[in-house]
Amino acid sequence: MTEPLLRALAAGLMVLAYAAMCLAIWRRERRRHDADARAAAALAGDGAQPPLLVLFASQTGQAETIAWQTGRALHAQGTPVRVMSLNDLDATTLRAAQRALFVVSTYGEGDAPDGASLFTENLMGAAEALPMLRYALLALGDRQYTHFCGFARALDGWLQSSGAVPLAPRVEVDNGDPGALAEWHAQWGGGGAEAESAAFEPWQLVSRALLNPGSEGGPVFHLGLRPPAGVALHWQSGDLAQIALADDPGRPRDYSIASLPPDGELQLLVRQECHPDGTLGRASGLLTSTLAPGDSVALRVRAHRNFRLDANAGRPLILIGNGTGLAGLRGHLRARALAGQHENWLLFGERHAAHDQLYRDEIDAWQASGVLQRLDRVFSRDQAERLYVQHRLLQAGDEVNAWLARGAAVYVCGSLQGMAGGVDAALRQIAGDAVLRDLTASGRYRRDVY
Ligand SMILES: Cc1cc2nc3c(=O)[nH]c(=O)nc-3n(C[C@H](O)[C@H](O)[C@H](O)COP(=O)(O)OP(=O)(O)OC[C@H]3O[C@@H](n4cnc5c(N)ncnc54)[C@H](O)[C@@H]3O)c2cc1C
Ligand SMILES: Cc1cc2nc3c(=O)[nH]c(=O)nc-3n(C[C@H](O)[C@H](O)[C@H](O)COP(=O)(O)O)c2cc1C
Repeated sequence: MTEPLLRALAAGLMVLAYAAMCLAIWRRERRRHDADARAAAALAGDGAQPPLLVLFASQTGQAETIAWQTGRALHAQGTPVRVMSLNDLDATTLRAAQRALFVVSTYGEGDAPDGASLFTENLMGAAEALPMLRYALLALGDRQYTHFCGFARALDGWLQSSGAVPLAPRVEVDNGDPGALAEWHAQWGGGGAEAESAAFEPWQLVSRALLNPGSEGGPVFHLGLRPPAGVALHWQSGDLAQIALADDPGRPRDYSIASLPPDGELQLLVRQECHPDGTLGRASGLLTSTLAPGDSVALRVRAHRNFRLDANAGRPLILIGNGTGLAGLRGHLRARALAGQHENWLLFGERHAAHDQLYRDEIDAWQASGVLQRLDRVFSRDQAERLYVQHRLLQAGDEVNAWLARGAAVYVCGSLQGMAGGVDAALRQIAGDAVLRDLTASGRYRRDVY
């Protein structure tokens, strides 16, 4: 063989060897890529699949918080997820979904919380075909209520009758039971340090005043509380304070915060409950009787996103409430006064003008200074027939519609039984179901009712 031929052969062999090496590297990378894709598909279901839905139905935010913890944990594992309120879910998204996790609470007589009011009306009201859907359900409830986890059970029944298949048995949580919650988090992730709520701190009772002496109703007290050194006053109007009880640690009690951080203290409006056997309500008795000014109580602040002003801060507000429901409305009115936003209409209901004018001077001052453009105090027992805020709303129907047409948002705070349902019915009669649906969907109808 001649030298040039040998050189050409050697060069050819080198090219071949290089090509073989490239092919091997390409094959290895291809295998690795395929394995990665298979792993991702195993988590996501399939590359073409829609994301796993984490759907929540919440009133005071517990179901929402758990849904986000679960969603974040799944996302961190590489699963494409979409976390959303049931009220934001449309039929097309649900029908296309292949996997969904539901985290839902129950209110009233086993009813859906406000965060699922549109879902129950628009979707659960009719038969659906969801044969592709695999789902799991976390039910938040409280066995003290007759219809324990009533909404979750109804939702589970509806999903199964629509052809959806449960991936695991429904997990029911009585009163935030840590064991049941751990079961859910073990299945779907989340929990651990992230699930731990803010700690209770010893807040000092600095003042307490009876606001309704001589009332036919239970005594109502205004309370001022200050945090221990190092704990900042930090919340927004609409948020809640939770009180922990040494003898009932699993069930902290919620109270609407009636003040703002610039007030320098956290203020509550608490009605003292008296049971038929003469004993006082555990939390309300502690706050209004057992504690003396200077004593401390275990308290933490809880964000109540459903009842904050948020995007409604620039809108006119119709604020409707009764009894201690004035607490949450007062928080908002203080925020409005501070912001110089005076398009506010307060409708407040109690029993007798002579004894039940909670925060009378403050409300009169707001009316005088124009912070309140309209004020309706409705006293149910000052005349022969009972008159409630919902009746006043109906009498002022044209003005309600005019405010809504100007973009007003509606905030309702106080009794779930009687008041909240009556107000809802009155608003529907005045504005129509379609308008109420729009208000709910756009976050312009918010309730803190109990
Ligand atoms: C979002 C939210 C906001 C709230 N905001 C406020 C607020 O701003 N102001 C306010 O005052 N309240 C508010 N509440 C209510 C508050 O959380 C408590 O439910 C209320 O103070 C009663 O709690 P308690 O511990 O005093 O009563 P508990 O001792 O828990 O008693 C409550 C009920 O349990 C039953 N019960 C318990 N023991 C007995 C017994 N021995 N005999 C017979 N029946 C019994 C009765 O039905 C009684 O009415 C709010 C609740 C929620 C959910
Ligand atoms: C006014 C009120 C009514 C309630 N009604 C029920 C009920 O009928 N059945 C039930 O199991 N739990 C009921 N609960 C308990 C809630 O479902 C439970 O506290 C849940 O954790 C709240 O979650 P959320 O903050 O996401 O709404 C009720 C709670 C309140 C404050």
